[in-house]
Amino acid sequence: MPSFLESATDIAREAGTLLAHHFERGIAFDLKGDFDLVTEADRASEKLVVERLHSYFPSHSVLGEEGGMRDNSSEYCWYVDPLDGTTNFAHGYPAFNVTIGLERAGELIGGVIYDPVRQEMFTAELGGGAFLNGRRIHVSKARTLDSALLATGFPSRKRHENVNVHFFHQVAMTSHGVRRSGSAAIDLAYVACGRLEGFWEFGLNPWDMAAGLLLIREAGGTTTSMTGGPAGLRGPHIAVSNSLIHAELLQLFGEVFKGQYRYPIPPIVSR
Ligand code: IPD
Ligand code: CA
Ligand code: CA
Repeated sequence: MPSFLESATDIAREAGTLLAHHFERGIAFDLKGDFDLVTEADRASEKLVVERLHSYFPSHSVLGEEGGMRDNSSEYCWYVDPLDGTTNFAHGYPAFNVTIGLERAGELIGGVIYDPVRQEMFTAELGGGAFLNGRRIHVSKARTLDSALLATGFPSRKRHENVNVHFFHQVAMTSHGVRRSGSAAIDLAYVACGRLEGFWEFGLNPWDMAAGLLLIREAGGTTTSMTGGPAGLRGPHIAVSNSLIHAELLQLFGEVFKGQYRYPIPPIVSR
């Protein structure tokens, strides 16, 4: 029988290929909420992933973003985001992925993120390291925030309640810059392989981050909340990094939480 990780890798590749075919054909989308898009591809990819997981591992629980939920009260739970980056996808912007994470008794033990655009398969197993297309990856060696490139995200759901713009400005002014890819799992994978030094976001769901958190830990990075607590799958926020800049990043976040801004946003003056 193939291992959990081998199965998840095959399933993610198959689902990613399905997404790529939909992407080439052009995309119709519906609204889940006011600004929350869902496409035929989200649903088709989730159906494929959930059916495969159920057939390989019938006793396991599965939680998929688009409602593909089966709670078997098993100690194993799969988290599935069948299309992470739906807004990008729906606009023809090529940055999206399939991500599948596995938890056993509350501990992350496996994760896969597949980007069908670049054909990059990120994989990790607890204690076994992190890999990109089969080659071992590590977080970057940058030591300071002022030499770091970071990313963050802004959810579509309840976006009027999101305070992240305060953090975005301060980090952007303190670092080499902040990217906003529209795909949290890709951002997490890029921290794991050293393309980014750090990432943070408010309000992610377990399916967005299960695989990415394990990848980062296995690549030598640090995963916490933005206040330095544990990075829970249901926490209000996460902060991840290459470990070396973590204390500096949390220090900056602490100041912003207290309303202490190193760099006030300049007023708009008429020119
Ligand atoms: C979203 C993306 C985005 C992040 C949002 C997520 P979806 O996932 O990962 O980058 O900022 O918080 O909800 O809806 O495209 O699967
Ligand atoms: Ca997502
Ligand atoms: Ca999704």
